[in-house]
Amino acid sequence: MHKSALSVESVESGLSSDLGNIVFDNLHPTQADSSREIENGLNLKQKFINPKFFYDTRGSELFEQITSTLEYYPTRIERSILENNAEAIANCCGLNCVLIEPGSGSSEKVRLLLDQIEPSAYVPIDIAAEFLQRSAKKLAEEFPWLNVHAVCADFAVFGDVPERLPEGKRVIFYPGSTLGNMIPDEAQQFLRYLRGWLGHDGGALIGIDLHKSADILNLAYNDKQGVTAAFNINVLNNINHLTNANFKTDNFEHYAFYNEEKQRIEMHLVSVLDHIVRLGDNAIAFSEGESIHTENSYKYTLESFRELIEGAGFVIKSSWLDEDQLFSVHYLELDGRDIENQT
Ligand code: AVJ
Repeated sequence: MHKSALSVESVESGLSSDLGNIVFDNLHPTQADSSREIENGLNLKQKFINPKFFYDTRGSELFEQITSTLEYYPTRIERSILENNAEAIANCCGLNCVLIEPGSGSSEKVRLLLDQIEPSAYVPIDIAAEFLQRSAKKLAEEFPWLNVHAVCADFAVFGDVPERLPEGKRVIFYPGSTLGNMIPDEAQQFLRYLRGWLGHDGGALIGIDLHKSADILNLAYNDKQGVTAAFNINVLNNINHLTNANFKTDNFEHYAFYNEEKQRIEMHLVSVLDHIVRLGDNAIAFSEGESIHTENSYKYTLESFRELIEGAGFVIKSSWLDEDQLFSVHYLELDGRDIENQT
């Protein structure tokens, strides 16, 4: 993908620290890169903020709160799938793999698998530095036998898996339907890029949310307590911080709906009045009712997911679903053809 977006500067200034069974690499994107990307998105006709900007410390905490709302079924269901099938999943991974989790957040789900998989190392990758450090430390304390190699980075532009990783089969753990936040073309491109992390024998354990009735989906992204709304709105605080902008959170409202035609949840922030926001040296005009598109969350069918991953050169080795077929977890391997790694 866009390797150049991760500037050399940020790599070279990356801190690396060693605390017993935990290593922390900081390859966080520079503020200049982040603000350029945000500014570009807000200059589009349909204003857009990449959902990765949700995840500052507060945003990561709010996401954790979303996962325990009644309405947000994906985390609950995926956990039950992982718990019920841990042994079969571990058999797919094999012993002593290097387990890499892009967008690891709290690293809660991996706990359900660690005793069975016994990886030689676990590599949580997350853009939220402080939250990642805290989560990795907690995990390393709870699992003293586990090598934890945390990497703070934008995983989509993070080119090379750190060289200090132990040798061995690599397995990418990509739960939570995070892949669904990319439009399908990007998702396929991203999967091709991940092949470069895997060598010949690697695999990927991917959780993906399934297509279902619009009612269930709409509720899941509009919880009654307003946690999802707070999560959505909070992106503006992070933008203010990253770009020296003056967004007022009171000027926007949370809006999320299922787009049946595109089979995706869309989240937006809708301006409640005509107003102008300063962003760095720019002025960005909002009219009443105009929105910033902040997230897509695509829902797949088993067929459309298979098509997506096969197009990226993977095959499904096993799939696990809950009995209501709300959510799915798949173990993928490379299909053996030599597909060019298009980064
Ligand atoms: C776990 C990042 C995929 O899209 O469902 C939850 C994020 N956004 N509620 C999702 C999210 C609103 C979530 N991901």
